[in-house]
Amino acid sequence: WPDFAPYIDEIIRLKQERNAIILAHNYQTRDIYHCVSDIVGDSLALAQKAMDVEADVIVMAGVHFMAETTKLMNPGKTVLIPDPKAGCSLADSITGEDVRNLRKKYPGVPIVTYVNTSVEVKAESDICCTSANAKKIVESLGVDRVLLIPDRFLAANVAAETEVEILTWEGECEVHERFTAQQVTQLRKAHPGVTVLAHPECPPEVVRESDFSGSTAAMINFVVDKKPAEVALITECSMGDNIAAHNPDTKFIRSCNLCPHMQRINLMNICDSLRHMTHEVTIDPELAEPARRAVQRMLDAS
Ligand code: 13P
Ligand code: SF4
Repeated sequence: WPDFAPYIDEIIRLKQERNAIILAHNYQTRDIYHCVSDIVGDSLALAQKAMDVEADVIVMAGVHFMAETTKLMNPGKTVLIPDPKAGCSLADSITGEDVRNLRKKYPGVPIVTYVNTSVEVKAESDICCTSANAKKIVESLGVDRVLLIPDRFLAANVAAETEVEILTWEGECEVHERFTAQQVTQLRKAHPGVTVLAHPECPPEVVRESDFSGSTAAMINFVVDKKPAEVALITECSMGDNIAAHNPDTKFIRSCNLCPHMQRINLMNICDSLRHMTHEVTIDPELAEPARRAVQRMLDAS
């Protein structure tokens, strides 16, 4: 790894020059999270907070769907993503045409779409949700049956907590689907008394074996509030690294997987992004309005 300091200095200088801010998802590496970002959070917080910023330029240190959502909700601002190949297996699992077919197959059933999707998919949806508000959004619709797509595990985990019947799709997060209930059992044997927190993109049997499940921000809040002596975060590895310094009373047991898409963003390409104003995120104008409506409905209901 190169010396980070010159990149950090240059990014801070360029942010001023461009009147730019950096939004960073909780899965970004420590150097980005602690040294150059202006706002950090889960997908919901990033979508909400991006709308309050005064900057002309927003750099998304996260994956492509997050940058798209930011552009959607901030059409007058320049939104940059340092590496446009930073994708997401959930976003890749479904197309707008798939959603149109689902609507034909299940007429009248509202379609709740996880924000981990393309603008095209959002535009075909009734309302969006994140892992922080999925149950609330599903129940806010006041119906007996909804389609919650495309993450089949998030859907199964919400179904376990609500009376609403949940239909879904076959999408999975390639990071969270790898965790197993057996891993959690072994972890508990090796670390008696450990508190296990799991992201709701994990398979339901993993969530059942855990002590708490919530969005990345909810997991962080749990650690900050409850101060567990030992914690295992069943999610992307960077999370624990990011919050360890601020939670010195908690020992973090490393039991995590890396997201190759999140890892594409680094100080070097953030620096290039600000220097050359690349890669600008644009939205098909025909899709912008219906997609924005689905995200706005979620924000209104949150
Ligand atoms: P959060 O909304 O919980 O931050 O999750 C986003 C994500 O991509 C998890 O894999
Ligand atoms: Fe997508 Fe999973 Fe990576 Fe989150 S962790 S960005 S859901 S692939």
